[in-house]
Amino acid sequence: MNISRRKALALTGAAGASIVASPFIRPSWAAGEELKVGLLLPYSGTYAKLGEAITNGMQLFYDQNKDKFGGRTIKFVKVDDESAPPKATEYTNKLVLGEKVDVLMGTVHSGVALAMAKIAREAGLPTIIPNAGANDLTGGLCAPNIFRSSFANGQPGFATGKAMIDAGLKEAVTFTWRYAAGKESVNGFKDAFTQGGGKIIKDITIPFPNVQFQSALAEIASIKPQAVYSFYAGGGAAKYVKDWAAAKLSDNIQLWGPGFLTDGVEKVIGKAGDGVKTALHYVDDLDNAENKAFREAYAKAFKNNASVYAVQGFDAMHLLSVGLQAVKGDAGKRKEMFEAMGAASFNSPRGPFKLSKSHNPVQNFYLRELKDSKNHNRGLAVKALGDINKDCKMG
Ligand code: PHB
Repeated sequence: MNISRRKALALTGAAGASIVASPFIRPSWAAGEELKVGLLLPYSGTYAKLGEAITNGMQLFYDQNKDKFGGRTIKFVKVDDESAPPKATEYTNKLVLGEKVDVLMGTVHSGVALAMAKIAREAGLPTIIPNAGANDLTGGLCAPNIFRSSFANGQPGFATGKAMIDAGLKEAVTFTWRYAAGKESVNGFKDAFTQGGGKIIKDITIPFPNVQFQSALAEIASIKPQAVYSFYAGGGAAKYVKDWAAAKLSDNIQLWGPGFLTDGVEKVIGKAGDGVKTALHYVDDLDNAENKAFREAYAKAFKNNASVYAVQGFDAMHLLSVGLQAVKGDAGKRKEMFEAMGAASFNSPRGPFKLSKSHNPVQNFYLRELKDSKNHNRGLAVKALGDINKDCKMG
């Protein structure tokens, strides 16, 4: 950031307006004018399908609600972040400094999102996170301009731990990718599981995005715990569940995890995943009108079934539309826009959508069971679960 930009920010506050009135500068927010929305998402690697589903969900909401963006038309600009934290700053700057986007949407991977949010916070840019769960993003590092349409990693972990206790389980091994999401997911799980009297026998990790599960599966087979809790997602999750079945562990050991383990990969997993239980803030067969309409429209538009990632993309655009409508398309009126987004309340395919003070969804979590390539709703696991991390001070 150069000195004059720094001064401008100091004058206007952390999330200050970046538009300076001048007769020679046409305001970037003129009614009807294009609003550039930067998408920092994985379009390659183990999370590629997640990035694609989020993008489709965003596109679907926009196509169905073009009149609800305060008179603005939206132009999406995409950057493939490869789920690679070392490249995150460069890729974020491509959108923020290079493309000069008005709004930032990203991303899937917690490590990439933490680097992205640092830049977004300094710029005060309206930012919506449509997946990455790093707890700090709506915890110690929360900011007036940063919103999440997904979850904090501790939430699905906690809900799964609670569901495991309710299922009568008493001991578990954890096995996950070794990075922020895996670690925080396991911590959320442990909070609920140990509070309920459960015992953790062993924690096993492998580096992200490795999919060499064999030696850990052999170790788990020799330990023979009642259950295993695993955070994996995308292509890695599909391979993991298939490897698990092939190793014939299912006969004696229950496989559990946050719903990412089986969401969006049901077809790839096939029968091998029968019986895998998860908890998540979404399940395909949720019985509400928005969900039915959403799933039908998504399947028609993209010849594919909607997943939790598609829902999070859909809701990210819904949240943006609430903000833009409140300021009649003038994205420079950041304070009013952020206030409206923070107070947003609408019906999402996942059910009622609202945010905590730290801009993270407060939402129901459902117990799900995979059977015949479908996640079935087995009832509420935790009702209206909010932030696990309470460190947010908006200032
Ligand atoms: C994350 O890195 O925060 C993450 C990635 C994929 C998921 C969930 C969380 O499905």
